[in-house]
Amino acid sequence: MQNIILLGPPGAGKGTQAARLQASRGMIQLSTGDMLREARASGSPIGEKVKAIMDAGELVSDAIVTALIGERLDTCADCGAIFDGFPRTRQQAEALDLLLAERGRKLDHVIQLAVDEEALVTRITGRFTCAKCGTGYHDTFHPTKVEGVCDVCGSTEFKRRPDDNEQTVRTRMEEYRAKTAPILPFYEARGLVRRVDGMASVDEVAAQIDAILDSAAI
Ligand code: AP5
Ligand code: MG
Repeated sequence: MQNIILLGPPGAGKGTQAARLQASRGMIQLSTGDMLREARASGSPIGEKVKAIMDAGELVSDAIVTALIGERLDTCADCGAIFDGFPRTRQQAEALDLLLAERGRKLDHVIQLAVDEEALVTRITGRFTCAKCGTGYHDTFHPTKVEGVCDVCGSTEFKRRPDDNEQTVRTRMEEYRAKTAPILPFYEARGLVRRVDGMASVDEVAAQIDAILDSAAI
């Protein structure tokens, strides 16, 4: 049972790779972005509170996301966890250490998806998902096989994230540079960071991550 963090700027491929690992290895994907979007869709008080912050591309408070992660971690005591989009600040990184220690878990790898940020704007603004089954697509890099029909479930309904416009993406990138990238040294000092080439194809990135997870535990 391994616990890993996927770390990288918006559009680096965290969600894409987490979904693959969840399917191939029975790990659980813990995406704070997805949890917050669910909270918004349900109209819960937390959802109402975070709406404007997310649409501006800024970070939601450490307390909210840490509580969400803690709850979700408890739903599967025996599964490896993939932290996708968490932690994003030094405070969240320290809170994660505590959450794991309280549950007798430890962090095995921090997988850094190294990417060219300019290319990410194109990746993000072309992204859409099936409204029914959640399968992810991209206008240019991964269109549906039949236009307007989901390859997996046949639905004809799709959605795009409200924060996937260029202006908000730029703010999200700035937040990453200012608050999230600085947590790398915290993990480097513990020898946990593994760097993969996030600009390679989805399959190649997946192969690099598999090699890390299959390597002998350090
Ligand atoms: P979140 O949902 O986490 O968004 P993000 O970090 O900005 O990252 P994305 O989901 O946009 O990108 P991704 O790395 O998952 O890439 P993907 O696989 O989709 O957070 C949203 C907001 O919630 C934040 O702005 C903040 O407000 C709030 N929030 C969330 N967590 C928080 C926290 N911990 N603290 C505070 N606030 C928080 O890939 C992108 C596209 O590229 C897809 O179309 C995909 O098909 C394509 N693609 C992926 N890999 C490749 C590849 N190798 N080659 C070509 N195309 C690829
Ligand atoms: Mg994501």
